[in-house]
Amino acid sequence: MTKKFPPAAPRVPHMVHGGDYNPDQWLEFPEVLEDDIRLLKGAGINSVSVGIFAWAALEPQEGVYTFEWLDKVIDRLYENGIYTILATPSGARPAWMDKKYPECMRTNSEGVQNTHGRRHNHCYTSPKYRELVWNMNRRLAERYKNHPGIMMWHLSNEYGGECHCPLCAEEFRSFLRKKYDNDINKLNKAWWTYFWSHKFADFDEIDPPSNRGENAVHGLNLDWRRFVTHQTNDFMKMEYRSVKEITPDIPVTANYMTYYDVLNYREMRDTLDVISWDCYPKWHNDFETTIDTSHEGAFNHDFFRSLLHKPFFLMESTPSQVNWHRINKLKRPGMHYLASLQAVAHGSDSVQYFQIRKSRGASEKFHGAVIDHVGPDTDKTRVYKEISRVGSSLSRLDEIVGTTTDSKVALIYDTYNRCAINDYQGFNNANKKYLDTCLKHYSYFHDKGYNCDIIPPYDDLSKYDIVAAPMMYMLYDGVAEKLKEYVSNGGTLVCTYNTAYVDETDLVLLGGFPGGGLRELFGIWNEETDALFPSQSVGIRYNENSLGLSGEIRAVEIAELLHLEGATALAEYSSEFYAGMPAITVNNFGKGKAYYIGARIDKKAIFDFYDAVFKDIKAEPLLSDIPEGVSVKSRNDGENEYVFIMNFSEEKKTVKLGGKYTDILTDEVYDDIAELDVYKIIIIKRKIG
Ligand code: GLA
Ligand code: ZN
Repeated sequence: MTKKFPPAAPRVPHMVHGGDYNPDQWLEFPEVLEDDIRLLKGAGINSVSVGIFAWAALEPQEGVYTFEWLDKVIDRLYENGIYTILATPSGARPAWMDKKYPECMRTNSEGVQNTHGRRHNHCYTSPKYRELVWNMNRRLAERYKNHPGIMMWHLSNEYGGECHCPLCAEEFRSFLRKKYDNDINKLNKAWWTYFWSHKFADFDEIDPPSNRGENAVHGLNLDWRRFVTHQTNDFMKMEYRSVKEITPDIPVTANYMTYYDVLNYREMRDTLDVISWDCYPKWHNDFETTIDTSHEGAFNHDFFRSLLHKPFFLMESTPSQVNWHRINKLKRPGMHYLASLQAVAHGSDSVQYFQIRKSRGASEKFHGAVIDHVGPDTDKTRVYKEISRVGSSLSRLDEIVGTTTDSKVALIYDTYNRCAINDYQGFNNANKKYLDTCLKHYSYFHDKGYNCDIIPPYDDLSKYDIVAAPMMYMLYDGVAEKLKEYVSNGGTLVCTYNTAYVDETDLVLLGGFPGGGLRELFGIWNEETDALFPSQSVGIRYNENSLGLSGEIRAVEIAELLHLEGATALAEYSSEFYAGMPAITVNNFGKGKAYYIGARIDKKAIFDFYDAVFKDIKAEPLLSDIPEGVSVKSRNDGENEYVFIMNFSEEKKTVKLGGKYTDILTDEVYDDIAELDVYKIIIIKRKIG
């Protein structure tokens, strides 16, 4: 049973409604602060994140500190019931710093050092930058440690990217020495450097990967990814300590990014008290349905919640439009409200924006905000009214704060696996589609009314009825045994083509695919992997089977030629020279079943497949007969389950609730049937058990 967590920020035991606020851009217009406060209060905003890129306003010259403006901002906000999430300013540097200490600046993979400017371009290794950040953060923490208005720390901003400077290269070599026990031959073996005469005689000979230099040793590329995560995390830990030592009771977060694969956030999950992330889907586009667009937020909410299996924060979202998509469409009326509550449905205890006030100049002046360029008249804007509606709804949801999600379904998705797939050269290079494949499987769980955790292969599987691990190309050490244990204890596992081809260092698993002992689990051997051109497909015909799946489907892009070694063929290829070979199989293993989908099939075929499998395992969705376009998710506190029902479609939908319930957002009572208008959401409360 899920327990209820205490509020992430003890000083704000409510749903947090806020966003990034940059009064440091308006110091010469002091009158805006009072007006901003009026507008924030009017929109039900109870928190703002301040100081994110404020270094130049805090220390305009080395050793000259000007914190008075920040004192005033934090005080005035607090006096008005608005709490501050205080940021460390390490995401961007003042010009004096880069002139005096150029080692703080990042070096690109060509070995060229950046010049001053932009943001997120510092070296994570530079002792000087670490010292400057440490000192600045301690100064902030000392000054505000007793301020009752500080609710949380926000470390830097969107840690990301990588640095190839000599300091980083040397740290990389130390990282490798440690990892390979100072034994260069261990590394040579793990990276297969015998290839193209790339063998090293000493760790000193190794450089980070580069397009001008080495990029063909996949083990090197992967270890570089691991190093970049390690080094970024090390920098983040330094920032964490810098404030935590002084303010042990103030929780610390850092904002993570959508589908980001430069860092493996799983290795950074234990560094923070609260996970938060920034969400910017392309709503109302012309290439997918609205529920499909909603998957981006849904998938990432589930991913970030599953890092610590507790509530997270939606740190940024735009109230209207962004400025960095190719086409920056306005959110249609109702979508901001729905997308905000979607985050809560998936386990967020906040709805926050980039940005509170539109900047007047530079690159983000046309990015959506709570407070518009129109200034005091902002409260007449459509956007402001919708934000206020979010604010007033969030204020009704205190009882949901701290509740989290029980999932019976898990999807295994892994960042290093993604990097390794991106790196491999072979099969269908034009259409590898790891993330896309994960999303297709995920969309079934999402659209059919199941909560879904998104986890790495090494997390606990025992609580799930079904686990899907699409394209698990890289098999981590110990995972084969884990999967076998899970299935033999009664679990249902679904894997696909491209499973277990390589080990953790990207060395091929010898002895036939799926390797590492998984041939036994799936009862198959994949002898060859075919790739198909875009206009080609191969027939797949279902055999008589106990799942009741029937008819013909098509394999596209990638198809494996399987042999049975104990499994049953649910479906066989019906064309090509491999007609008659198994395409989809199931193996009874202990008390459970291991399914293998050997070819890429379309979304409808995936949905039909899971319909049959879910029926077989008698999995119960949160509501029955959910209409297309409606998403149903739940949170619970151990006694009550809060069911969020969201219409992500452009049509009215009718939902059967299975009883009489009151919408806790509006107090409207529904007797079994709820008619959901376009983009409408309701939340009902059910007793568990
Ligand atoms: C990111 C950054 C913000 C801002 C927004 C714009 O998420 O963290 O500072 O640039 O994008 O959408
Ligand atoms: Zn560096």
